[in-house]
Amino acid sequence: MSTSATDGVVRVALLGCGTVGSQVVRLLREHGDDWTARSGAKLELVGIAVRDTATERDPWVPRELLTEDAEELVTRADVVVELIGGIEPARTLVLRALTSGATVVTGNKALLAAHGPELHAAAEAGDADLYYEAAVAGAIPVVYGLRESLAGDKITAVLGIVNGTTNYILDEMATRGLSFETALAQAQELGYAEADPTADVDGHDAAAKAAILASLAFHTRVSIEDVPVTGIRSITAEDMAEARDSGHVIKLLAVARRTVTDGTEGISVRVHPALLPAAHPLAAVHGAFNAVVVEAESAGRLMFYGQGAGGAPTASAVLSDVVAAASHKVHGGHAPRESTYAELPLHGPATTAARSQIKLRLADRPGTLAAVAGVFGEEGVSIDSVRQQRADDGVASITIVSDVATEAALDRTVARLAEEPSVHEVISVTRVEGA
Ligand code: NDP
Ligand code: HSE
Repeated sequence: MSTSATDGVVRVALLGCGTVGSQVVRLLREHGDDWTARSGAKLELVGIAVRDTATERDPWVPRELLTEDAEELVTRADVVVELIGGIEPARTLVLRALTSGATVVTGNKALLAAHGPELHAAAEAGDADLYYEAAVAGAIPVVYGLRESLAGDKITAVLGIVNGTTNYILDEMATRGLSFETALAQAQELGYAEADPTADVDGHDAAAKAAILASLAFHTRVSIEDVPVTGIRSITAEDMAEARDSGHVIKLLAVARRTVTDGTEGISVRVHPALLPAAHPLAAVHGAFNAVVVEAESAGRLMFYGQGAGGAPTASAVLSDVVAAASHKVHGGHAPRESTYAELPLHGPATTAARSQIKLRLADRPGTLAAVAGVFGEEGVSIDSVRQQRADDGVASITIVSDVATEAALDRTVARLAEEPSVHEVISVTRVEGA
């Protein structure tokens, strides 16, 4: 298929007709005239590839367009919309489309975060465009925001709640006192979490999105392999209650920051649960909603908020890419190319600054707190606050919040505390953000 639709018709192939794909079909059928008026191109859906054509579909899905031969379908399209998910066969199909000059629109963060450079290189080789608004935070136009709206600014930090399932679980734990297990079961019942919720609760879905956001924000290639990740399985209802009592909430955050160490600029990218002050804008993000806060030198703080998942919201982001792609096919022009000129180094634990809350159980006798404070001092970690809960049977619970220190120093401190004779248990270590 040609890279420009000279007859004003843009042929669209849809790969996948599940939660998102089916809604894309609906929106194309219901609002096709609007998309034509906006793009100047008549969008013709030429086929829908699925795993099994015999499966029952939503009533608006035209059965005659269904095919199990995705490879053949890709050869007939100007724009390929990939909504299969996962790595293969999505990767092979997307590469084939791009190298033949077709535009690809995808919502596949797993594929982008693992094989982004290969996909962008294929787009370059095929003089093709790659759009992926739906890959991060569903309906929220944060990819466009970073890639285009903020192209004239210098971004210093991106903090996001980019996984709806985990935000729903943490919110239910915080607001209704549910246990992690009960909140997860509820998320599964409501269809937010998959039967196998690993990618969500262990933070891998958020890590893929963090890699994409960091790549865009800092003009540097970041892969999912570069993102240290901690999920939410170990958070308890008690942690939530204590966070509330100290004026905080716990959220699973994707955090990407520009960092300077010994005069060298770099970036750090992380996914972990974090304590946020209740007044922080991300603390007010409830349920399965997503939000991304971007801090930029000239623009200051911006916040993008909305539905991060679901068929129709995600299809909205897909359609915005399809309309832009169709417009380029008819009128010329390209999507912005991958921008990696900055090539900033990734700063590891030795240089990345963080604050942590460390909860301990220790012997309730004179001198034990001094010993604990001594470990902090010897590791060069300053203490910001200490709270002691009621001593029970000679054991006290202590919550210590550190000042900013390197992750490496904080890790060493925690490792030494675990070995300290007066410390019965290191109960938890949680990052503190936004203070
Ligand atoms: P679903 O699992 O609901 O749908 C996947 C579709 O792909 C199904 O129609 C399936 O066919 C089809 N498919 C699977 N394997 C093949 C194959 N080998 N060849 C052809 N078709 C195949 O996924 P979603 O719609 O939820 O997600 C699609 C993409 O969008 C993913 O990358 C996801 O990460 C992303 N996304 C999803 C969001 C959401 O809320 N669901 C939000 C943001 C992004 P069949 O129907 O026959 O089984
Ligand atoms: N599982 C993801 C979430 C879907 O819960 O946010 C969108 O990527």
